[in-house]
Amino acid sequence: MAAIRAQRRPADLAAIDALVARAFAKHGGTQAFRTFREERHDIVSLVAERDRRIVGSVLFSPVYLESPVGEISGMGLGQLAVDPDYQNQGIGTQLSETGLQLLRDRGCPFVIVIGHANYYPRFGFEPGALHGMQCQWPGIPEETFMVMFPCGKQPGLTGKATFDGL
Ligand SMILES: CC(C)(COP(=O)(O)OP(=O)(O)OC[C@H]1O[C@@H](n2cnc3c(N)ncnc32)[C@H](O)[C@@H]1OP(=O)(O)O)[C@@H](O)C(=O)NCCC(=O)NCCS
Repeated sequence: MAAIRAQRRPADLAAIDALVARAFAKHGGTQAFRTFREERHDIVSLVAERDRRIVGSVLFSPVYLESPVGEISGMGLGQLAVDPDYQNQGIGTQLSETGLQLLRDRGCPFVIVIGHANYYPRFGFEPGALHGMQCQWPGIPEETFMVMFPCGKQPGLTGKATFDGL
C-alpha cells in the first residue's frame, strides 16, 4: 500500500516527470499525454507516496463528447505511471480506484482511457465502441479506446470523444 494524495503540488512536478520517464522507458513506450504543468481547477491529479518518495502518479483531464444531445464534459485518464521498482504491488490500482471514486463523487458522467486492454477493464472500463463512442484519433486500435461510467450509464452518452487541448 502507498499513501495516495490529491492534488499534486508544483514542487512534485520534477519527481513526477522522472518517474513517468522511468515507467514508460521500461515498457519501451512513449507517453503521448500532455503533462498539464499549469495548475488548472479542471484537472485531477493524484500521487502515490512510499518511503517519502513519489512512486506513482495519475492525471485526469477534461474530455468532450459530441453527443446527439450536445457537448457533454467528462474526463480522460492519462499518464498513469508507477515507478518500476514499485510495480505489481497494487499502486496503479490504488491510484486508479481513488481517482475514479473522486470523479464519481463529483458526478463525472464518463471517463475515457486509451491504454492496455487487459489492465483497465478491472476498473470497469469497456471498449468505447460497445457504447457508440469514437476516439478523436481514428488510427487508435479499437480495443485500447475504453470508457467507464462512474455514476452509471446515462442516455445520450455516445459520439466522438476529444481530449481538451490534444
Ligand atoms: C501499468 C502500470 C501503471 C500498472 O501499475 P502497477 O502498480 O504495476 O499495477 P498493479 O500492481 O495495480 O496491478 C498489477 C497488474 O497490472 C498488470 N500490468 C502491469 N503492467 C501492465 C502493462 N504494461 N500492461 C498490462 N497489464 C499490466 C500486471 O500484470 C498485474 O496484473 P494481475 O493483477 O492480473 O496480476 C505500471 O505498470 C506502469 O507504470 N507501466 C508503465 C506505464 C504505462 O504503461 N502506463 C499505462 C499507460 S496506458
